[in-house]
Amino acid sequence: MRLEETFMHFLLEHQMRHRRTLNFLILMESIVTAAKYIQHVYDTGGLQSNMGEAGTINVQGENVMKMDLLAHQIVMHYLAESKQIIEATSEEITEEVPLNDDGRYFIYFDPLDGSSNIKHSLPVGFLFGIAKRNLDGPEDYHLRSGREFIAAGSFLIPSGVFTFGLKDAGTWRFLLDENQVYIRPTRVQFPSKRSGWELSWNAGNRNFYSDTVQNWVLKNENDYKFRYVGSLAVDFHRLLQSGGMFMYPAIVNHPKPGANRPEGKLRLIYECAVVAFLAHEAGGTAINEAGENILDIQPYKRHQRSTLFVGNKEAVEDIRKALKAEKPKETSKVKAVESA
Ligand code: AHG
Ligand code: MN
Ligand code: MN
Repeated sequence: MRLEETFMHFLLEHQMRHRRTLNFLILMESIVTAAKYIQHVYDTGGLQSNMGEAGTINVQGENVMKMDLLAHQIVMHYLAESKQIIEATSEEITEEVPLNDDGRYFIYFDPLDGSSNIKHSLPVGFLFGIAKRNLDGPEDYHLRSGREFIAAGSFLIPSGVFTFGLKDAGTWRFLLDENQVYIRPTRVQFPSKRSGWELSWNAGNRNFYSDTVQNWVLKNENDYKFRYVGSLAVDFHRLLQSGGMFMYPAIVNHPKPGANRPEGKLRLIYECAVVAFLAHEAGGTAINEAGENILDIQPYKRHQRSTLFVGNKEAVEDIRKALKAEKPKETSKVKAVESA
């Protein structure tokens, strides 16, 4: 009989080695439970007629799916039960959700990433980032940059693979065993071998990017294999294993000006910063179109968007050089001043 190391044991060892509390284990237990529950609801969603639209539009103008709401409710339920969270930020709720003033952590999450895949029962993800409260004094801000995350993760749904990054301790993968327990910690690093590298991007937008990005694509796309699932969590999942770069550049040349997205499409805190954190711990990096490291961007609003280029350092560095030649019109700093 072979008994394997569980996720909880792995985390316990980590916390003890660093003389940390066990509160973080309680929080992670609630997150893992939520992920398994989402997985069950997703697996059975077709039978329950839960794979369609909810009939509402969120503040970001996007169609909300029933599964988005179910996943959000599941996560909120287990987070509240854990008593560890001061305040939660979910993609599905405009404002913050206060949970427990005596809690120890802030969480930012996208309960269901890749909603356009739901009606096809294709893979989606659950992304989260966690920051710790200021233990030395009052909280003066609740929106933390990725640099202040202590951990971040991504669950692949419905296969259940869990990718977990711990600050200064690497990015790890866990598999679900036959008893629905996460086991077998395996450290993941972006592969340096260029022959397998992939470029993951929505090629349908190629004519709408800035001239600099369009020129970079023309010059470099043949060096990569092209892969795109349409869910950052899922696309990033395969990128970690294959290497290369995922990008969602600014859309600035759309024939319908209303369809332009100069700030990018993806959300900074619970999408970009989460994968940036995982990438950093796996030896990679992430920048926005202004060349700023995603982890260093201090959010000025909860559902702030960002452009994103994430993957192997060499791949990201290559496009950073091309972007540097162009003076960016919009940087997060400019935006922050505007909103002050
Ligand atoms: P969500 O389903 O949480 O709203 O996120 C969708 C995001 C992201 O997962 C994905 O990478 C991107 O939208 C895909 O956008 P396009 O359809 O424009 O390629
Ligand atoms: Mn998303
Ligand atoms: Mn989502």
